[in-house]
Amino acid sequence: MCGIFGITLDSETNLGALLRRALERLEYRGYDSAGIAVVAPSGVLVKKDAGKVAEVAQRLGFDHVKGATGIAHTRWATHGRPTQTNAHPHVDCTETIAVVHNGIIENYEELKSELIAKGHKFRSETDTEIFAHLMEEYERMGLSPWEAFKRALSRIRGAYALAVVDSKEPDKVFFARNLSPLIVGVGDRFNLVASDVPTVLDHTNRVIPLRDGEYGFITSRVIHVEYDGVPVRVEERVQTIPWSADQAMRGGYPHFMLKEIHEQPEAIASTIAGLEPRRLAEIAEMLLSAHKIYVVGAGTSYYAGLVFQLGLVSYKLAAVPIIASEYGTYEGLFDKGDTAIAISQSGETIDTIRAVRALRERGVRVVAVTNVVSSTLARESDLVLYTRAGPEIGVAATKTFTTQVTLLSALHMAIGRALGVDVSPQEAALKRLPEVARKTLELNEGTAKEVAEKMAANQSAYYLSRGVGMPVALEGALKMKEIAYIHAEAYPAGESKHGPIALVENKFPVVFVFSDPSLKEKLLNNVAEMAARDATIIGVIPRGDDVAKKLKYAFEAPHLDPMLNAATFVIPLQLLAYYTAIKLGRDPDKPRNLAKTVTVE
Ligand code: AGP
Repeated sequence: MCGIFGITLDSETNLGALLRRALERLEYRGYDSAGIAVVAPSGVLVKKDAGKVAEVAQRLGFDHVKGATGIAHTRWATHGRPTQTNAHPHVDCTETIAVVHNGIIENYEELKSELIAKGHKFRSETDTEIFAHLMEEYERMGLSPWEAFKRALSRIRGAYALAVVDSKEPDKVFFARNLSPLIVGVGDRFNLVASDVPTVLDHTNRVIPLRDGEYGFITSRVIHVEYDGVPVRVEERVQTIPWSADQAMRGGYPHFMLKEIHEQPEAIASTIAGLEPRRLAEIAEMLLSAHKIYVVGAGTSYYAGLVFQLGLVSYKLAAVPIIASEYGTYEGLFDKGDTAIAISQSGETIDTIRAVRALRERGVRVVAVTNVVSSTLARESDLVLYTRAGPEIGVAATKTFTTQVTLLSALHMAIGRALGVDVSPQEAALKRLPEVARKTLELNEGTAKEVAEKMAANQSAYYLSRGVGMPVALEGALKMKEIAYIHAEAYPAGESKHGPIALVENKFPVVFVFSDPSLKEKLLNNVAEMAARDATIIGVIPRGDDVAKKLKYAFEAPHLDPMLNAATFVIPLQLLAYYTAIKLGRDPDKPRNLAKTVTVE
């Protein structure tokens, strides 16, 4: 939800500007307010306000702040409205301790009343502020800042990634992680902590992903991590991230989303190149010997899971698709001998993490599909398959969806191989996928701009399909909702006459996904139903297919096979959502009310 950052350097520098740049990287995680705190001789200097990073930094003159140790925060409000007082960092009564936090401190109310009873004065409505006063309270009892930090930590419950500075130990940044992501960046005469990898990459590509329950401090020369009072040998945990900082740049595109849409051919090619046949075969055997199979994920990742779940039907394998936040509803099914595929691009979505923990507690083996090396999901699963989409900054998932479909299609082929099925046609199609994705981009960008003009004139739209086309329709509708704010609803086309068609009138936009040629005739009946009500009929069709004659607007993609088509037929729908958002003056990279990684329930 929020983004946090902390750094300590050997010598004084333009720290305010450095912290601003880190916040600009983190802003996709939340953009209600922004703030920095820098250790100064007199205490901690705090600058914070409601608003986007660039505005606040300009208004408060972040770039003029010098220093060697500081923390920063960009917020997605959970407790307390997006105001100046509720913006982070939060300080104690003496303004010598400053805290930034991502997550929720569940027992903050009881701690707050305890501290108020001891005379502490609170300035904000947030849960986070209690941590600064808790540390202050223990320092009043004579504890050193490090000891006070640990004591305060032992009192809080909930999800947190914390970074704290204390002017009484000016060269340190204290940190802790529980459920919310936090990474240590290993530097040369500096060290840092950050909520995600792209923000670290500006400084170093050597990282230590922290685990739940770990806490510690950094100085410019030392990284000290503990778990349950026991020091951790961090040198063994250092990882080198194969991404460059540039990859996390916009690369000349107006928005990360458009850049990432255009990166899909390469992302798919890298994912195919990174496939591990032995690992795929091992997982195929696991699925074939499983008593029950589950496919778990949230949002776009859930839809990629649906493509796989529907694909398994062709091998007479039944899998239970589970929307991660609903795992409790299915918990009674979870049992030893079952296998789950858990999908999450970030690997940090709390609903999916919680579902995986519940599955494993009941003896279910979990295979993770994720895009982030050493993410929580990767570390907490039995086996991991990585997509290789590179960093995805735009809040709307695009290349991570198409690479998830690519990877899951390869797993589907491995199951076929294990069953003795000739999957060479699919293998040949998979090889063509990057090129077909490139062609699909080329063929449809102009049409997307044209259709966006029409779409932008509407408040609602339907996305319809059948079979394995349904997850593509669901994904297309989700993109239109989350970045253009148009109420787009996806449902199986055969359901129209059972109610939804009541909404359809002149020029009501209806998007059809023809990704499975065997269902063409049935879908054409549904097209006729909508045309009879003067709807504006838009379709994504196999290139050169005569369905085009039945449509007002046709997006085309070269046909591969119904499952792989999910990775290409979605591309025109990504472009349509993007250009409709542009037409309506929305910010495609930072849609309102959303954040890239959802780390609170
Ligand atoms: C998709 O565009 C959204 N950002 C959202 O639905 C996302 O897919 C969902 O939050 C799951 O994220 P994950 O893949 O990182 O777990």
